[in-house]
Amino acid sequence: MSILFSEKTKTFHLYNEKISYIMTVLPNGHMGQLYFGRRVHHKEDFSYLLERVSHPMTACVFDDDDSFSLEHTRQEYGVYGTTDFRHPAVEILQENGSRLSNFVYTGHEMMAGKPKLPGLPATYTEQPEEAETLVVRLKDELTGIVLELFYTIFAEGGILTRSVRYTNEGNESVQITRAMSLCLDLPDHEYEWLQFSGAWARERHMKVRRLESGIQAVDSIRGNSSHEQNPFIVLKRPTADEEQGEVIGFSLIYSGNFLAQAQVDAFDTTRVLLGIHPFGFSWKLEARASFQTPEAVMVYSHEGLGDMSRTFHRLYQRRLARGYWRDRERTILNNNWEATYFDFTEDRLVEIAKKAKDCGVELFVLDDGWFGARRNDQAGLGDWIANKKLLPEGIAGLSEKIEALGMGFGLWFEPEMTNPDSDLYRTHPDWILETPGRHASLGRHQHALDFSRPEVVDSIYKMMAKILSEAKISYIKWDMNRSITECYSRVLPADRQGEVFHRYILGVYELYERLTSEFPQVLFESCASGGGRFDPGLLYYAPQGWASDDSDAVERLKIQHGTSFCYPISSIGSHVSVSPNHQVYRETPLHTRANVAYFGTFGYELDLNKLTEAEQEQVKEQICFMKKYRKLLQFGSFYRLSSPFDGDGNVSAWMTVSEDRREAVLGWYRILSHANRPCSRLRLSGLDETLCYCITEDGQEREGVYYGDELMNVGLVTTEGAAKEVALGEKGGCDFDSRIFVLKAEG
Ligand code: DGJ
Repeated sequence: MSILFSEKTKTFHLYNEKISYIMTVLPNGHMGQLYFGRRVHHKEDFSYLLERVSHPMTACVFDDDDSFSLEHTRQEYGVYGTTDFRHPAVEILQENGSRLSNFVYTGHEMMAGKPKLPGLPATYTEQPEEAETLVVRLKDELTGIVLELFYTIFAEGGILTRSVRYTNEGNESVQITRAMSLCLDLPDHEYEWLQFSGAWARERHMKVRRLESGIQAVDSIRGNSSHEQNPFIVLKRPTADEEQGEVIGFSLIYSGNFLAQAQVDAFDTTRVLLGIHPFGFSWKLEARASFQTPEAVMVYSHEGLGDMSRTFHRLYQRRLARGYWRDRERTILNNNWEATYFDFTEDRLVEIAKKAKDCGVELFVLDDGWFGARRNDQAGLGDWIANKKLLPEGIAGLSEKIEALGMGFGLWFEPEMTNPDSDLYRTHPDWILETPGRHASLGRHQHALDFSRPEVVDSIYKMMAKILSEAKISYIKWDMNRSITECYSRVLPADRQGEVFHRYILGVYELYERLTSEFPQVLFESCASGGGRFDPGLLYYAPQGWASDDSDAVERLKIQHGTSFCYPISSIGSHVSVSPNHQVYRETPLHTRANVAYFGTFGYELDLNKLTEAEQEQVKEQICFMKKYRKLLQFGSFYRLSSPFDGDGNVSAWMTVSEDRREAVLGWYRILSHANRPCSRLRLSGLDETLCYCITEDGQEREGVYYGDELMNVGLVTTEGAAKEVALGEKGGCDFDSRIFVLKAEG
C-alpha cells in the first residue's frame, strides 16, 4: 500500500495490491478524478487520462478554453454553477446570497494510519501500517472556507474510505447546505445499480436496475437510516456475479438522513454522491469553526459481489465494530417479546428463563414493558425505573434471579423516546422535537426526545447508567420505534434549525459512546422497530443489530440474504420464533427456523415451555450445534450460493468457510416442495480445491469423500434421493424444508 504524489504532474496515486485510485490537480486548481479500479502500475504521468474534449455550442468553458469545461471533467468534489451543471458535492450559502464556490488545491499531507473522526463513528486502524491517509487541502479564497478531503487506503482489500472536513478561515459565517462525504465521477455508465429496500418487516430486499441517463437515488429523510432504504448501494458491471466481475460497493457510516445517488450525464459518465441528505440540511459555520462529514467507504472488487461483501464483512467486523464483543462469539439468548409481549409477571419470566437455561440458552432478555406505567405501548417511555408491581425487587432483583440460574441477563431500552403519558414528559414537555405552533404527530403513541440537546442526552444517560450499575446486566437492546416528524429544536436559533436532524444523531452517538465506555463488557444490540436503523454507524457501538421484526424463517431468507451484502453475519440478529409465525402466520418446521437463524447471532423469541418435549430436545440439539459452530458461522468467510431474489427464488443457500478452508457450514433452504422434482446440484465456493472433505447432512454422514474442486465445479448433490430421504411424508417432502451440511477436510 502506498500513496505517491508527483510534484511535476500534480498527480496522486493511492494503491494497494487490489486497487488504484488516481487523481490530479486540474488546470483551474480543482481536484480531478482520473481512475478508480483494479491496481495498475505506477507512472509519474497519468495526465493523458484527463480527456479534454471540446463540446461546441452547449458547453460553458472555464476560461475561454474550449477544451476545459467542468461539465465534462471528472472531479473529486464537484461544484455547481461554474460550468458544471451536475448535482454537486458541496453547496455553501454565503451572506450575500450566493451559493457558488471555487475550491482550489493549496496543499496536502500524508500520514500512516487513520485519524479519528470527531464525534462520529468511523473505521479505524490498530497499527499505523494497516492504512495510509491522504488529506488534500482546498480553499475558496472569497469565503475563506477550507476543505480537507480525507482518503484512507487500507493495506488489505480494495478499500478506500473518504470524508471531508470544512473549516471556516474567513471572517463571515456561512451556511453549508450540502456537504457530501463522497463524490466519485466514473468514466462510463455500463453498470447495474443494486439497492437494498423495503419496509417494516421486509427490510433490505435487493433491487437491481440498469443505470440510465438521469438520476437514480435512494435516501432517507425520516431521521433514521430507515427500513425503506439502506445507506448502501452497489454498482456492478452487468456481467458481474457473485464470483467474478467488477463491482463497487458504497457504504455510508451514518444512521440519519442520507442520500446515495448516481447521475448519468449526456456523455455517459456517472457521478456517485453519498452523504448526509441535503434536503432540509444546513449547518451554520461560524468563523474558525469546523464541520466534519460522516465517513463513506468504497470497496472495489474485480472478483464479484461475494468478494466485495467479504471485504466489507472483514472491515466492519474488525475495524468498525469495537470493544470487548468485537471478536467474541455471540451469546445465545432468549428474548421474551414474542413469548409474552406486555403480558408478564416476574414469575412468568423466571419460568421462561428456567426452561431456556435447561435447553442451553446463555442469556435471558427482558424486552419492552418493565418500567414506569408501561403495560402497553401507550405509556411509560422515558421513565427508566422498574415497575415494582411487576418486579418487586426491581431489575436488580430479577437480574440476580436470572444470574442465579446460571445465565446472563439483558434488558430493553428505548432511550430516545417518551410517551405523553409518562413522568418524563409531564416534567419536561419541552424536551420533545416539535415545531412551535404546529401539531406534534405521534408515532406508536410516542414523541422523539430532542437528542440535539446535551442536557436531554445527559438525563437519559443518568437513568440508564443507574440501572446498569445497580443490576447485573450483560446485554442491552436499544430500540427506536418511530421516525422523526415536525423536526425542530426549541433551543436552537432559526438559522440553526437545519442542523437538528444531524445533531440528533450526534446525540445518539454520544449516548452510545458514554454507555459503551462506562460499561465496556455489556453487549449492545441496536434495533429500530426491527431493522429500521441497521447501518454501519451503529455497528461502531453495537456489534449486532436486530435485523427485522419479521421472524418468519421464509421471509428471513430475503432479509438476511440482502443484509449480508454489506453487513457481517456476526452482526445480524436472528431468532427462532413460534409457529405459526406472528407476522405472517406461516407454519414452518422447527429445524428450518433454526437453520436460518444459525446464519446470524442466534437466539429464541418464544416460551420454550410451550414446545413439546420432543421439540425441546430438538432445541437442545440446535443450541449444541450453534455453540460448536458459531465461531465459524459468525466469523468465517461467507458465500452466497443461491439467491432468494433470483428466478422463482425457491432455493437459497449460504455457506461460511473457516480461514484455513478446512471446515465449512452450508445452509440449504427450499420454500415450496414440488412433486417429481428434477435432480439438483449446488456448486460450492471458498473451499480448498486440493482437500478432501467429509460431509454430514443434518448430522448424518454422507458416504465417501469429496475433493474441494469437485464440490466447487461438479457441485454437491442436493436431490432428495441422494440424501437418502424418503420422498413422501417425511421431512424431505415438506414445504419450507432446509438442510445443514457440515464439511470437514480429512487428515
Ligand atoms: C420493536 C422491536 O423490533 C421488537 O423486537 C420489540 O422490542 C418491540 N419494539 C418492543 O416494543
